[in-house]
Amino acid sequence: MQILNGKEASQAIRDALKLEMAQLASRGERVPHLVAILVGNNGASETYVASKVKACEEVGFKSTLIRMEEAISSFKLLDVINDLNLDPDVDGILVQLPLPNHISADEVINSIEPEKDVDGFHPNNVGRMVLGQPTFIPATPYGILLLMEHYKIETKGKHAVVVGRSNIVGRPMSILLSGSGYPGNCTVTICHSNTQNLEAICSEADILIAALGRPGFIKSHMVKKGAVVIDVGITRIEDKNRKSGYRLSGDVDFENVAPKAAFITPVPGGVGPMTIAALMKNTFKACAMKHYYDEKEN
Ligand code: GUN
Repeated sequence: MQILNGKEASQAIRDALKLEMAQLASRGERVPHLVAILVGNNGASETYVASKVKACEEVGFKSTLIRMEEAISSFKLLDVINDLNLDPDVDGILVQLPLPNHISADEVINSIEPEKDVDGFHPNNVGRMVLGQPTFIPATPYGILLLMEHYKIETKGKHAVVVGRSNIVGRPMSILLSGSGYPGNCTVTICHSNTQNLEAICSEADILIAALGRPGFIKSHMVKKGAVVIDVGITRIEDKNRKSGYRLSGDVDFENVAPKAAFITPVPGGVGPMTIAALMKNTFKACAMKHYYDEKEN
C-alpha cells in the first residue's frame, strides 16, 4: 500500500507556480490577485479560507479576504461581486460555500464573471467542462486529477466509483474521469443516497472516490483488494483531548481499508492540500488569460 501524499504533491505544484511567478516578475507583469469572500463565521469555512489566503502568500499571489456578517443581504453580496467583476486588478473571485440559508448560492455563483470564476462553479464553466473545453475545473476534482497525475495512477479502462453527487466534487469528478485523455478514460459509476447495492458497487471499484461527508462510511469489505482509494471527506468530530476541540475524519475507515488498498489518501494531508494547489493553478490561469487578452487588445 502506498500513501498518496497530498502535502508533498501540492508542494511540488506550488514550487512550480513560484518559478512561473519569477518569470512573470521578470517580464514586469502584475501578480495574480485572488479575492475570497467569507460570509458568517462557520469554523470549517474559516479554516479553508485561511489556508487559501496563506497559499496565495506562499506562492507570491496577492490575496484579499472580504468578510461579511451572517445577516448580510443577498443584494449587498451581489453588489460587492459586481464591483469585483469590474475591477481590472482582480483575477479570481471565490465565495466560500456554504452560504447562509437566506442567500441563494446559485444566484451568487451565476453573478460571478465566468473569466474570474476560479472555483469553476459558474454554469458557463461547468458546461465547458462537460464538453471537454478549456475552463476552470472545480478545485477539489482538479486536485484529485493532479494527485493521480503526480503518482502516475493508471486510469484508462478502470472502473471508477464516485460516492456522492455534489456539484462541488462528486458530479464534476464523475464527468472528468469519464472524459478522454489522462487522467480519464474510466468507466464511471456515480452512487448517491438512493443507490441500491451500494456496498457491492463500491467493492467492484478499481478507483473509489468517497465524497459523501459521512465519517468512516467506507469499510474494508466495500473495497476491492488493490484499489485506489481517494477520500474527500473532512468532517470535524468533537474530541476533548485535542487543543482545537475536534479531530478531522475522512469518509473512509482508513485503518482497516489501507491494508487492502494499493494507494490511499490520508485525512488530513491527502485531497485537502491538493484542492488548494488546484485553486492556485486556476488563479494563475485566470491572470495569465487576462494578460493574453489585454496584449491582444493593445
Ligand atoms: N466549500 C467547500 N469546498 C469549496 C470550494 O471548493 N469552493 C468554495 N467556494 N466553497 C467550498
